[in-house]
Amino acid sequence: MADLSVELASLALRNPILSASGTFGHGLEMERFSSPQKMGGLVSKTVTLRPRPGNAAPRIHETEAGLLNSIGLENRGIEAYLRDVLPEVAGADTRIFTNIGGEAAEEFAELAAMLDERTEVDALEINLSCPNVGGGRLPFSTEPALAEAVVRGVRAATRKPIFAKLSPNVTRIGEIARGAEAGGADGVTAVNTLLGMAVDWRTGRPRVANVQAGYSGKGIKPVALRCAWECARAVDIPVIGCGGVSSAEDVLEFVVVGCSAVQVGTAAFSDPALPGNLAVRVEALLDAEGVASVRELVGTLETERKVPS
Ligand SMILES: Cc1cc2nc3c(=O)[nH]c(=O)nc-3n(C[C@H](O)[C@H](O)[C@H](O)COP(=O)(O)O)c2cc1C
Repeated sequence: MADLSVELASLALRNPILSASGTFGHGLEMERFSSPQKMGGLVSKTVTLRPRPGNAAPRIHETEAGLLNSIGLENRGIEAYLRDVLPEVAGADTRIFTNIGGEAAEEFAELAAMLDERTEVDALEINLSCPNVGGGRLPFSTEPALAEAVVRGVRAATRKPIFAKLSPNVTRIGEIARGAEAGGADGVTAVNTLLGMAVDWRTGRPRVANVQAGYSGKGIKPVALRCAWECARAVDIPVIGCGGVSSAEDVLEFVVVGCSAVQVGTAAFSDPALPGNLAVRVEALLDAEGVASVRELVGTLETERKVPS
């Protein structure tokens, strides 16, 4: 049977399947559908310093080919996360990634310092799509130097592996990935949601109260794949693919373009058992093709594959 174990910098995962932040609760809410033991890791909803009520409703709209959401990072804040969530996920028998968000580089660093001493947490994922309040609300993910500064602050505050989660809403995502690498990231996650919107022309109202929303699900897979590929070519650190994954075939497509692991988000809303089922399906595909280890396939896109002499 194919070996599914992968390494993300210093972090060993039993398989490359992770939940995507904000789509799987903190992980254990879905336990009866997707056992954490069947997954490489669980990524938490973004945690911020202070509790956030999130945006006004309606915050979700289903489109023909995916989902629009503008939840607005609703969460109970780091104190509640440390007190209530972490002790619960401690026994999950999988890797725990805590996704953090802030409005200034210092907030990310503060969160990282608070999480550093918690042994339940294996790694941090930095949500760079958060607006930089001190910088005209431009997200940290839009400028290499901003991304670098946030990652550098987090790097100084923790010894845990850190993964910078990038936004696809930029012209050259590879340059943002390089900024994150320069700041000391152990890997990048590509990508967060695409900016989108939907309207009801009859009423003249936007479908999501915030007007603009994050687009996710099947429809974004080609964009996410291209972003992950650009990142993999730009940096030497591992890339975690994310965006529109809904099958084992999708997982292996992200692997071939250069991803060492893959996150599943929107697809888990219609099939909460999917993240738990994907590893065995990936294994079956690899066995059918006679591939001994998923690691062999990472970054083997044909244009870059070395032709044996
Ligand atoms: C309802 C919803 C909430 C999300 N919340 C977060 C979040 O809190 N932090 C974050 O980094 N990404 C968040 N995301 C983005 C996902 O983690 C993922 O990057 C994106 O949805 C693309 O993957 P997918 O197409 O598999 O869903 C959210 C996505 C959805 C649909």
